[in-house]
Amino acid sequence: MRSTPIPHTDLTPSAICLGSSNFGNGIPPADAYALMDTYVTCGGNFIDTAAVYANWLPGEKNSSEKTIGRWLARSGQRARLVLATKGGHPDLATMHISRMSPPKIVDDVETSLRNLQTDWIDLYWLHRDDTARPVAEIIDTLHGQVVAGNIRYFACSNWRPERIAAAQAYAAQKGITGFVANQMRWSLAAINPAAVDDSTTVAMDDETYAYHKQSSLAAIPYSSQANGYFQKEAEKREVRPNQQKMYGNRENRARGARLKKLAGETGYSISQLVLGWLTNQPFPTIPIVGCRTVAQVEDSMTAGDVELTEAQVAWLAGGKGQIS
Ligand SMILES: NC(=O)c1ccc[n+]([C@@H]2O[C@H](COP(=O)([O-])OP(=O)(O)OC[C@H]3O[C@@H](n4cnc5c(N)ncnc54)[C@H](OP(=O)(O)O)[C@@H]3O)[C@@H](O)[C@H]2O)c1
Repeated sequence: MRSTPIPHTDLTPSAICLGSSNFGNGIPPADAYALMDTYVTCGGNFIDTAAVYANWLPGEKNSSEKTIGRWLARSGQRARLVLATKGGHPDLATMHISRMSPPKIVDDVETSLRNLQTDWIDLYWLHRDDTARPVAEIIDTLHGQVVAGNIRYFACSNWRPERIAAAQAYAAQKGITGFVANQMRWSLAAINPAAVDDSTTVAMDDETYAYHKQSSLAAIPYSSQANGYFQKEAEKREVRPNQQKMYGNRENRARGARLKKLAGETGYSISQLVLGWLTNQPFPTIPIVGCRTVAQVEDSMTAGDVELTEAQVAWLAGGKGQIS
């Protein structure tokens, strides 16, 4: 599998990143270990987690990070991995109360290091934004964690482009490295906006796409396979009600038809085209896949070397590069 270097860093992650949102409490530890073993066997080296993952399920607190930490301790894979985690997420019961103060961010970093059983985090994400806080304070706090050796680089998730631009301008003026990536909801599938139940999340839009294109900031999108919507439709398998609610629309039926046509012409599978649509964008883009089974990891990982032309990428989305 090819790698996709992240500009302004020495990180060379594989073209596909493995997500872990339900590891531990949702996907039992033994199954999560099998997913990670399969992922690295298929050539992957980039794992994405967050302090809050699986806290919405009954069981251990921070179970995704802790499950990954236990796997790292037994697999011996730590040194060859690009390990990414996130903090600064509100407590789930009080989503309206920000947790982005400097002491809370530092506390989250230290907790994640313990959960992951590691001395350093390669890529540290702010999971949300708090527009009431100046970007200077946020960047200074994260840079302090780089200087302390706790994190190597930092990035933002669910931030609007004007706030990203302000943060980058502040970092440039200080002569330090700012955000090296942005994580947003993005896939080939158009979203039904009314189905998004968390208003603190941010999806790719025209403005964000233009920002990435002019700045070459790496995009590392989540829900990159639209929860398997196109694969399930193509195989006439059941699309879960929440997936239908989010992605069931006329535009996606048209895109699904184009996917089938291009699959017939190129020999690529639907999964390969869905993920290849992202990895062939005009700025570095590394999709995060959220697989539930070993077979899904194997299938998704076959997309790592897909090559599509600019015209094929535009055609799949009906003439639009970005979406949604
Ligand atoms: N920064 C953020 O705010 C944020 C938010 C959400 C997620 N994330 C990160 O992004 C990761 C991925 O998000 P996601 O889980 O929404 O992504 P996704 O890959 O679009 O959706 C995962 C679902 O897609 C289906 N699937 C996976 N591989 C498949 C394949 N090869 N063929 C057919 N169906 C397949 C499975 O559905 P079934 O279970 O129905 O089979 C699986 O549960 C998360 O694990 C997390 O690390 C970040």
